[in-house]
Amino acid sequence: MMRISEEKINEIAQANDIVEVISSYTRVKNSGKSYLAICPFHQDKNPSMSISQEKRVYHCFSCGASGNLFKFVQNIEKITFMDAVEKLAQRAGIALDLQSYSPDLTNEITLLLEINKIAARYFHDTLFDLSGAEKDFIFSYLRKRNLKDYTIKKFGLGYAKKDWNSLHDYFRENTEFSDDNLEKAGLIVKSTKDNKYYDRFRGRLMFPIFNESGKVVAFGGRKLFEDDNTAKYINSPESKIYNKSKILYGLNFAKDSIRSEKRVLLVEGYMDLIALVQAKFTNCVSSSGTSLTDDQVKILSRYTSNVSILFDGDFAGIKAAKRGIEKILQGGAELRITVFPENEDPDSYIANKGINEFGQLINSGSDFIEFISNLLAKENKLKSVADKTNFIREIIYFISFIPDKIKRSFYIKKLASEYGLYESLLQDELNIALKKNTAVKSSTEIRKEQPFNNLKKNKQSVISRIETELIEHFIHGDNEVIEYLENNLETSFIRSEHALKIIQLFLDEYLNDGKIDVAKIMNSIKDEKLIEIIAAASTEKYKVNDAGIKDRNAILNSVASIKMNYLESVKGLIKTLRIEKLEREYKEKAKDSSKLDECVKLKKEIFQLSKN
Ligand code: UTP
Ligand code: MN
Repeated sequence: MMRISEEKINEIAQANDIVEVISSYTRVKNSGKSYLAICPFHQDKNPSMSISQEKRVYHCFSCGASGNLFKFVQNIEKITFMDAVEKLAQRAGIALDLQSYSPDLTNEITLLLEINKIAARYFHDTLFDLSGAEKDFIFSYLRKRNLKDYTIKKFGLGYAKKDWNSLHDYFRENTEFSDDNLEKAGLIVKSTKDNKYYDRFRGRLMFPIFNESGKVVAFGGRKLFEDDNTAKYINSPESKIYNKSKILYGLNFAKDSIRSEKRVLLVEGYMDLIALVQAKFTNCVSSSGTSLTDDQVKILSRYTSNVSILFDGDFAGIKAAKRGIEKILQGGAELRITVFPENEDPDSYIANKGINEFGQLINSGSDFIEFISNLLAKENKLKSVADKTNFIREIIYFISFIPDKIKRSFYIKKLASEYGLYESLLQDELNIALKKNTAVKSSTEIRKEQPFNNLKKNKQSVISRIETELIEHFIHGDNEVIEYLENNLETSFIRSEHALKIIQLFLDEYLNDGKIDVAKIMNSIKDEKLIEIIAAASTEKYKVNDAGIKDRNAILNSVASIKMNYLESVKGLIKTLRIEKLEREYKEKAKDSSKLDECVKLKKEIFQLSKN
């Protein structure tokens, strides 16, 4: 099959006017800003297909037929997607064998992605173009680290030469990118001494860091030479496309496998992740040395609510594990912890002990109570009464992070029976810890931080009016609106699974491309229902008159033609959604008389919100 790049497909989509194309198959009439067509996909007497020229999609309000240009041609000609692409390329006079395309470099996100892509290719090619002693040295390192060629290719590993300017020279000779932009991408650095640029990464094994959809957003470089006194790893600085706290290294490869395994393995290092994937533990991501952030927890919660932490046996590893435990418990996930023997990490353990033993070790992972008790026992800190009291306090501290009351009481019972303590005593301790928690954080914040729970709650199949409006804001709003949504929309606000999927697609696209192109997004959607919802939200609607009959002549309430202040209205939407969510919680809690206090608090909060 012919491979056509995504960029090419976009170019073809842009070059064909959807209204013109549909006009060549069916009657289209212009009414004001929008277009109406006799729907060719069902027996349509009056035009019920609405077309948005701007968003490049169509939607039939009668039979539901929806899609973008390619979908239209595909369905009406009964041909494959690729054939439709070819046909439309021909129509626009675009040659398909031409590999060149031109990304929109005025958009900073596209620009930085493009620079990173070229750099990744350069580092990778450099590795395979090496010769002589340099090649021997680098490849013996790769072999020593057990990296197979197919792994090196899968992860796009590369080599940054020892020279001061090799990447910079490559860009200067082969591209038009300015030094300014290369600096923005973090690839070159200006010397404070002579104001000259030099390469950030020199003499390093390069790990391209991919975002969730597989585009290179940054690099990690590991030092290779003995005489190098700089840090073991150097990473790209943060940029418009690289937010360290939101990246999980390897997630782009692991998505499907995390879903099918219903579990994610969380490791610390780039090398750990690669070693695990090479050993066929593909449901794995790496936090890349930082302690787990709320954002990372939120991202994981979209895929699974079972997390296995695999951490190094050194002090830093244990400290990171502890902080990770807090965050994951707070998110409401189930947790298993494996700490590796001292001086070992997942990568070295696989190398030294083999895949089977590694598998056994992670399967025998402990819950957080065992984890803490093993830790203290090892440090000989479980002997005296004072030690034991400390231990119990520490466990209770962790239990207090669990949002689910039933789960908390389960752990309290377990702790009481295992250590022969009174349950009531532990419960008192827990209440104190819980109060401390609430003292630090406002009650809303605590409720906000339960992303894993939302995954489990059944989502509804019907999409509500307000969810539809939300989708419309994503489509018709400007970047300010979308950024507002990105920062304020919580997954727990959304109840329909379709809406949730669509919003995730939109956010993905926005983070990747800096804009939401609905016609383009449709190319990758298989679920017809999703396409229909998006198309309906992108096109203009009929007014339903009093008798409930569609008034085909007057299109009112059109999303695009009404001058709306989307930013103002999106704020209102978010507020309504937040109130609705709190009210759902209230209803749930009101069933339980012991939760009177929480109910009162919720009511107050709802009142406050509705007031301003
Ligand atoms: P480690 O020191 O455990 O390294 O750091 P590693 O991944 O096991 O690498 P090898 O096996 O020694 O080659 C864990 C992670 O912390 C980040 C990197 O993401 C690394 O993978 N890190 C570490 C840095 O960003 N900078 C550093 O200087 C060290
Ligand atoms: Mn290691």
